[in-house]
Amino acid sequence: MNTPSPSSQALPQYPESLWRASTKLPTFPQLTEDITVDVGIVGAGITGITTAYILSKEGYKVALLDAGSILQGTTGHTTAKITTQHGLIYDQLIQTLGEAQASKYYHANNEALQWITQTVKELQISCEWQPEDAYVYAESEQSAGKLQKEFKAYEKLAIPGLWKEHLPIPLQMKAAIQLPGQAQFHPLEYLKTLVEAIIKAGGKIYEHTTVSNKLEGDRPFTVTTLDGEHHMTCQHLVSASHFPFSDGGGFFFSRLYAERSYVVAMKPETPFAGGMYISVDEPTRSLRSASWNGEQVVLVGGESHKTGQGICTYQHYENLEQFGEKVLGNKGIPFRWSTQDLVTLDKVPFIGQITSKAEGMYVATGFAKWGMTTSAVAAKLITDQIQGRDNPYSDLFSPSRFNANPDVKNFVVQNANVAKELITGKVGIVYTQADELEKDSGSVVKHHGKRAGAYRDPDGNLHLVDTTCTHMGCEVEWNEGERTWDCPCHGSRFGYDGDVIEGPAQKPLTKLS
Ligand code: FES
Repeated sequence: MNTPSPSSQALPQYPESLWRASTKLPTFPQLTEDITVDVGIVGAGITGITTAYILSKEGYKVALLDAGSILQGTTGHTTAKITTQHGLIYDQLIQTLGEAQASKYYHANNEALQWITQTVKELQISCEWQPEDAYVYAESEQSAGKLQKEFKAYEKLAIPGLWKEHLPIPLQMKAAIQLPGQAQFHPLEYLKTLVEAIIKAGGKIYEHTTVSNKLEGDRPFTVTTLDGEHHMTCQHLVSASHFPFSDGGGFFFSRLYAERSYVVAMKPETPFAGGMYISVDEPTRSLRSASWNGEQVVLVGGESHKTGQGICTYQHYENLEQFGEKVLGNKGIPFRWSTQDLVTLDKVPFIGQITSKAEGMYVATGFAKWGMTTSAVAAKLITDQIQGRDNPYSDLFSPSRFNANPDVKNFVVQNANVAKELITGKVGIVYTQADELEKDSGSVVKHHGKRAGAYRDPDGNLHLVDTTCTHMGCEVEWNEGERTWDCPCHGSRFGYDGDVIEGPAQKPLTKLS
């Protein structure tokens, strides 16, 4: 039951990201006192850290709080492509938001790319920085048609893309758009240096500090730890925690959905000839090179699906393994991992003041897998808003926007989807008994006649939890690839013992044993 199939034996038993395995990050204490700062930032991924870095450079007293350890979430599990080529996006943006906004989207991300390049140079960061060309490629006639429309959008927006019918690596394809002058890096080596700079400038970082979603008063804001013991008071408050830690009346749970995607790091038989690739066709395929122990590896990614709604999660890794093997040859897979991204209904991130009324409170979320550049867009935009400076991209990314087309349709579909998950999760028939579970496997089971979540660890101990998500009551599903309980509604994730790994849920699943 839920054990990997024989073909997957080459995959590592447990997920671990290459970035996290190859970087020694500093650790920070829990918040155990009351503090007052100019800017409080909740969430220490790339967005929180970049924002804290820019603000502390500008003389602000900053504190960063994270519910777990720094850089353990999406940033620690990215493919780290720094590019303005976000799959197919520009034709869609022209259709839905118009040419002027589509152009702003490109320029905001291009400035972010230049800013990161400059920062790496300025701080002389050793982070495997590598200029690369980005490619989006079509395998079928149908997707080649979409690619042509995208190329026309490039021409309209003066994006310097090139139409290609051959690629440097042996991918089956009809056509591709090449975008020169992009880059890749080791994200955690880069961010480690920004963290050091924040500390040097007097900034504070606190780990293992979950904060309550209830905010006291207006400005100054008081953020309280979940146990109610300690407080952070600040004039400006930034939510960089994926799902905003406090909704602030923005109804983000109905305007964002979570997607999981997967990566295997594969040693290729033939050297990888460079470039960063993403397919138009589904299931998505993404490729870029990296290094591990002085050897080249290729990060083969894709297989994205809504959180909690995928096929057997191990199967996703196997599909990537087979694809990578076919294209490059497989000399071994030292790492496999997965990640979770939030997507907005119009595919444009929410960055800026959380609602039109909540002065001084900001949010950055919904980067739809393109967080390397959009995190820098967010850090610059929020800094400008805190400083009272104009930023040309404020209206495009405004979290208060409501673009009727296609938001309305998606809004209805998205909420119908959540309602379906609430209903089907509750009434699904459960046949498995906890006694039937093999070691290191999990499942929804029948326990004392009721639905429960069960995982039997490698020592044979059984861990039972209530499968009702503590966010808004959907039923969580077992993810055997990661050994977690994932919620299909808004993407909360829990360990096998029920502890929160990723919000918006703040409370653990109820333990039944
Ligand atoms: Fe919202 Fe589970 S994450 S109900």
